[in-house]
Amino acid sequence: VRIGVGRAHGKAILFGEHAVVYGAPAISLPVHVLPVIANATITTGESTISSELYRGPAASAPERLSPVVAAIDAGLDFVAPGSSAHVTIYSDIPYERGLGSSAAVAAAIVSAIADAAGVRLSPAERFLLIQVAERVAHGRPSGMDAHGVVADTVIKFQRPDVTPLIVARPLHVVIGDSGVPGATRQAVGSVRELREQFPAKVETLVARLAGYAADAEMQLATGDWASMGENMWRAHATLAQLGVSSPELDTLVNAAHSAGALGAKMTGGGIGGCVIALAENSAHAKDIAAALSAAGAANAWSTWVEASK
Ligand code: MEV
Repeated sequence: VRIGVGRAHGKAILFGEHAVVYGAPAISLPVHVLPVIANATITTGESTISSELYRGPAASAPERLSPVVAAIDAGLDFVAPGSSAHVTIYSDIPYERGLGSSAAVAAAIVSAIADAAGVRLSPAERFLLIQVAERVAHGRPSGMDAHGVVADTVIKFQRPDVTPLIVARPLHVVIGDSGVPGATRQAVGSVRELREQFPAKVETLVARLAGYAADAEMQLATGDWASMGENMWRAHATLAQLGVSSPELDTLVNAAHSAGALGAKMTGGGIGGCVIALAENSAHAKDIAAALSAAGAANAWSTWVEASK
């Protein structure tokens, strides 16, 4: 029996969440300190899941795991139709915090199942399989997360294209978890409602977010963290105007400001979830992480992206 292995990691959106749903560019970075690994074997009996949340037959998994079940079924249908799988999942990504947990788990699962079947998925095939699970998790996902959780570096995503970006020097960031679950589906829905009510206002805000993402491409390539940080504060204010921040996220962004962060904003769907703060270097990142914890963050991770070779 061949044991297949699949890996993915968390992602944090630097710019463009929500705007990406309306065709704007978004930029995400890999959070390698939050990995997911899945193992799979192909069987003929019933499919089973073994994870921290649940252990048992896929058919009786709780509702919350329906994206996991969808990923298993999509993977099997593609590489071994009619078969079943035993899937084990190890994830360090907290659920429902806008860090791409559902997409990363789906990515690891479909990769593990393909590996167990001796099939190499192309990036496009893997993307489509992850999106099957993402639709179960979020309704109408843009595809940002499905790309971000498997990308090795910073990427720009503008439907349907994904482009790796040049990073001039190491990018040190801190992710602070408000501890409050964020419901991406609900946040995306509330922006859609606001857009129906106030189309011109929402168009303006979306265009502003698109502008920050466009600016970031050059800022990353030149290492202009000062300007990029300024845009992060502005992006947070813009997202708050879209109604997707929360008192807890505002508190963490203010704490990052007091700790001397170059910029900070909510990241991901919002209404709960996480903030991302930009640091000068790894020592500064540790200070910011401590400040976020002191301000009430349930967790704070410092992470970085290497400069492009
Ligand atoms: C979620 O990580 C990002 C959102 O823009 C939703 C999406 O892109 O589907 C809020």
